[in-house]
Amino acid sequence: MTETVVLKLGGSVITDKSGECAIDHARLREVAEELAVQRDPALVLVHGAGSCGHPEARRYRINDGLTGENVPGVYETHTAVSSLNAAVVDALRDAGVEAIGIHPLDLALAEDGRLVSFETRHIAEMTEHGIVPVLHGDVVMDRLRGSCIVSGDQLVTRLAAALASRCVGLATDVPGVLQNGSVVPRIDRSIVKTLDIGGSGNTDVTGGMQGKIAELLTLADAGIDSHIFHVSKIGRFLDGTGHGGTIITERGMP
Ligand code: IPE
Repeated sequence: MTETVVLKLGGSVITDKSGECAIDHARLREVAEELAVQRDPALVLVHGAGSCGHPEARRYRINDGLTGENVPGVYETHTAVSSLNAAVVDALRDAGVEAIGIHPLDLALAEDGRLVSFETRHIAEMTEHGIVPVLHGDVVMDRLRGSCIVSGDQLVTRLAAALASRCVGLATDVPGVLQNGSVVPRIDRSIVKTLDIGGSGNTDVTGGMQGKIAELLTLADAGIDSHIFHVSKIGRFLDGTGHGGTIITERGMP
């Protein structure tokens, strides 16, 4: 089996998070062109929602569960983030990447906010044939709450484990995890308690940078390191030349 790289594009990288589903098409084109020249590893892409999904999820309180009144929020949230997914897939295909969109609502089930079933065998099969599956944070049906939001970060950790990936990347709009304005180069469970990391300033129902680190530490526990870096460094992440961002790991210091 080919080594699979799981790469997440943060929602704030590909949308203007302060607007209402404001897709950054120029940024999408840049990322797509970067990925088109890096065709070596099998790639699975995941993207966040940014302003295409977070505002709807918050407005309908999707993460608190379904009450009856907020049921239309399942459709509204899914439709918003699906429109972003279509734009990501279009940009990739225009650049020559054999991308295809996959919606977690269709194939996943959660219990109290965590995925309990998530079919990934077809995703592995796609990567074997040079197809780049493009998933996204989504509203998912939840056996306890009715519905919940599964973040792109939770999907990344599930996919990386299921696809036996050794390399996980998160492209963000900051150069890495920042403390007092500087990048923290390495985070493990012993360091994380001492860090003072702010939450996300804009509408974010899934915990911003703190939520991301918590997800990635779980992955590190399973022996899979992840890398958080600025979106302009995707090429350097993929070819291993150094992205200058943060590595989340449970391995000893090199
Ligand atoms: C959120 O996914 C999904 C929805 C709100 C529908 P993420 O939590 O991964 O999105 P970003 O990267 O923070 O925007």
